[in-house]
Amino acid sequence: MNEAKLNEFMGKLVTDMGGAAMMASVIVGEELGLYRAMAGGDPTTPEQLAERTSCNPRLIREWLNAQAAAGYVEASDGRFRLPEEQAMALANEDSPVYVAGGASVLASLCLDNDKLVAAMRGDGALSWSEHHPCLFSGTERFFRPGYRAHLVAEWLPALDGVVRKLETGATVADIGCGHGASTVIMAQAFPASRFFGFDFHAPSIDTAGVRAAERGVADRVTFEVATAKGYPAHDYDLICFFDCLHDMGDPVGAARHAHQTLAPDGTVLLVEPFAGDRLDDNANPIGRLFYAASTFVCTPNSLSQEVGLGLGAQAGEARLRDVFTEAGFTRFRRATETPFNLILEARK
Ligand SMILES: C[S@@+](CC[C@H](N)C(=O)[O-])C[C@H]1O[C@@H](n2cnc3c(N)ncnc32)[C@H](O)[C@@H]1O
Repeated sequence: MNEAKLNEFMGKLVTDMGGAAMMASVIVGEELGLYRAMAGGDPTTPEQLAERTSCNPRLIREWLNAQAAAGYVEASDGRFRLPEEQAMALANEDSPVYVAGGASVLASLCLDNDKLVAAMRGDGALSWSEHHPCLFSGTERFFRPGYRAHLVAEWLPALDGVVRKLETGATVADIGCGHGASTVIMAQAFPASRFFGFDFHAPSIDTAGVRAAERGVADRVTFEVATAKGYPAHDYDLICFFDCLHDMGDPVGAARHAHQTLAPDGTVLLVEPFAGDRLDDNANPIGRLFYAASTFVCTPNSLSQEVGLGLGAQAGEARLRDVFTEAGFTRFRRATETPFNLILEARK
């Protein structure tokens, strides 16, 4: 036994345990509006923050102490302040780096523990719909800031000739659209185009419809319950898969259906979690987050469906290329990337 190595590993575990506990405190801070109440950057006492948010002052003090110990807020002379950079990540939903909403995804991992244990002892199947609802809203809130920052400004322009079609009037399908964050963002940017969002999870489709109405695009967006192999054909100019292909039991079947329903010169936009092709490439902070979430959500969802390929959330470009080649696509390339996502383009 190497004591130095043991100490190093214990330090790592304590850091991770603290990180997990801090994520629980982020969920609470988000729900109670504590970060938003501190977003102006003015120093506050616990009592002032408690009064402003109608919360218990003693618990607010303890919560603030934890935030200060973690470096989420600054503490001085009994007052606490949320710096601008932290406010971007924790308080401002319009910021491109807002991650606090995504902490609810982590809550679902804990809340659904019993179901995962049963799946791991059994056939590995745990469908998306069986998860706690905080997964569905957490996914929307985790992904939307990235879509707002990159989808219209960078990802669509990285595809060959797609923006021109969207500007003049294209037909677009968003498969596995969840709460429709990506669909609504595209519809807002391209008023001449028609958008169809499909997902097999009926409650998500209901919420997506509400989002389209809230953002004034319900006249050009239709949300419908449909599987990735069952949505109606329409000669789509663009078919999108945002962070969902790897969740599917039969990604080859889904890609084949896209091939059949795409216009002859149409494009598939495939957005997947950033990953290299080998485990060694993904042994980093982003890789461990996605592998862990994939164990609880993506892979068991895939195993709950026909074929049950179980690509996993760290499939990597080479594996994804194989899926599209097997489905009949002849062109496949990495259009662009972000630290969180691979943006891939497939053509017939
Ligand atoms: C990680 S979520 C991504 C949701 C959305 N695209 C987004 O980026 O916010 C994966 C989505 O895929 C959907 N899904 C999984 N398997 C599916 C299938 N076979 N057919 C249609 N939708 C599916 C789930 O219901 C879920 O909404």
